Amino acid sequence: MALPPAFLEELRARTPLPGLIGRKTRLARNGRQWKGCCPFHNEKTPSFYVYDDHFHCFGCGAHGDAITFLMRAEGASFPEAVERLAGEAGMQVPKATPQAAERERRAKDLYGVCAAAEAAFRRRLMLPEGRAALDYLRRRGLTEATIARFGLGWSGEGRGALAADLKGEGITPEQLVAAGLMKPRDPDRPEAGLVDMFFNRVIFPIRDRRGRTISFGGRILGDGQPKYVNGPETELFSKRRSLYGLDLAREGAFRGATVVVVEGYMDVIALHQAGFGGAVAPLGTALTAEQMDALWQVSPEPVLCFDGDAAGAKAAFRSAELALPLLAPDRSLRLAVLTGGEDPDTLVAKGGPPAFEAVLAGAKPLSIALYDLLAGTSPPATPEQRAAFRHRLDAAAKSIPDKTLSSEYRRAWLDRFFAEGRGARPASAPRPAWTPRGKPGELASIRGLLRPAIDHDAIRLERARNLLAILLHHPPLLPEVDEALASLDLPQGDCSQLREALLTWLPDADHLDSTRLMDHLRQAGCESVASWASRKQGLCQAADPEAQPKEALEAWWHFFSLLRGKAELDHDLAEARRMLEETNDPQAQHRYVLLLEAQRALLSGEAGDQAQPDTIL
Ligand code: UTP
Ligand code: MN
Repeated sequence: MALPPAFLEELRARTPLPGLIGRKTRLARNGRQWKGCCPFHNEKTPSFYVYDDHFHCFGCGAHGDAITFLMRAEGASFPEAVERLAGEAGMQVPKATPQAAERERRAKDLYGVCAAAEAAFRRRLMLPEGRAALDYLRRRGLTEATIARFGLGWSGEGRGALAADLKGEGITPEQLVAAGLMKPRDPDRPEAGLVDMFFNRVIFPIRDRRGRTISFGGRILGDGQPKYVNGPETELFSKRRSLYGLDLAREGAFRGATVVVVEGYMDVIALHQAGFGGAVAPLGTALTAEQMDALWQVSPEPVLCFDGDAAGAKAAFRSAELALPLLAPDRSLRLAVLTGGEDPDTLVAKGGPPAFEAVLAGAKPLSIALYDLLAGTSPPATPEQRAAFRHRLDAAAKSIPDKTLSSEYRRAWLDRFFAEGRGARPASAPRPAWTPRGKPGELASIRGLLRPAIDHDAIRLERARNLLAILLHHPPLLPEVDEALASLDLPQGDCSQLREALLTWLPDADHLDSTRLMDHLRQAGCESVASWASRKQGLCQAADPEAQPKEALEAWWHFFSLLRGKAELDHDLAEARRMLEETNDPQAQHRYVLLLEAQRALLSGEAGDQAQPDTIL
């Protein structure tokens, strides 16, 4: 049974993999993916990872998507697996008719047509005729690498230019119509012939989540109307399901980038160039439910970015309303606001990455943003206004299908409602970081003033103490981290001495337990250092002897990354990735995953540092 690729694609997109696999084996969230014991081989420590669209076992190598999972886990045949998943996703499996087979063949061809068209557009950009377009893109600050990465091109002047380019490759004008690249000059008079969809425009290939080009957008050079033209709906391209940049954002999110939805093509491109690898945009329409599903496959809490004006507030409200019935504990949103009439493109052009960093940092959780939106511009003052506001809050909470989540929203909102009614801020209310901000620069400087002086050395020392204390109480972790430990730049003196003692003990130790370790340390003259390191005050919970080994290990990597510094960690990661690609062995995979975890801990640790400069964790 040959099924249309678009159907299978949608079936996969509509099947949340952690939910499906979670029925067979217990999964726990592990950063952006899920982790558990592999259902396909016997294991006690989890090495089975579930990502947004595939699973992978670092133990036995099992690998696949939702369909292959059902086939392997339940011995289902391909059609059975598809049938079952479609039933759960509320989709009809298309009948295998000759027409369907024909449609599928065409769709397959269309990918090829789009790819050939993209190549032709890109070629034209580099010819003399594309010079003005290339200059335009450079003037807007795009580098050659960015232009290549996004596959930007030049349409040519029309009059069948594209069809002429592609004729040699056996691509017909009819295929160009099917790909949305040409259209009838006059729909009522087929004999009038075909015209180009795009002419005199800079071309932006639109790609699906797997990076295959499925349509195009075109921008006029300079001013003029319409500013952008987008390709029509085709067998490959559905505007309401596509997000510009999603293919790159998936990759970015995997590396820890925040997934952020902005308005336009140029915003996405400028943000990626500025290092925000999670940027995507809908294609000239408001965000749809399908697009939200696609976002949640990549990130549990994407940030939606809106203008600070009335139109922006309205759009934010519409998105929040649309999201409510779709929310779940691991499917939420944050809302960020752009001020001063800037879009992300102009913002990073003027203020560099920190300017947009500040916008992201100011993103509010949906629950808080929606309360503000529902409250409107002036706080409800009269009993009637207050009652109406409470009704709005109630109704909004009711539209969340997950009962627990719904009641949490309701409770948080009512707490805030009554607290604000009394003129006080409830304990659970947002920290000042969530309250509306002025210009990013302004805020940063105010924060600078409020910040107490930080004793960086003391913080480093406490971090090192935590790192060592974890090992003193959990010596079985040593073989897993010894290399990393040896590579660390630790504070001189006590810390380095203790590390030396740990590392010399390890190769000779036949039992990795705390008592023997302590004996060794006593003999090595490190007794007082060891007791300094394990002094309870200021230690994290994971350093406690009673803590779970897994918790202790995670905490260890957390402190490691805080001490290691970002640049070095990036270097480690690149190195580990290279090793993994070269050897593809489980050890290398394991190390890579651990370093990714460490990097994630570092990123969240840095954010934590900003919020509370006086803490050590
Ligand atoms: P904007 O007008 O904000 O465009 O429209 P932009 O991305 O900032 O473009 P530049 O910076 O002027 O080049 C936002 C998005 O709305 C859609 C496009 O997807 C655009 O990126 N749009 C806009 C259209 O589809 N058609 C239009 O005529 C204008
Ligand atoms: Mn713009």
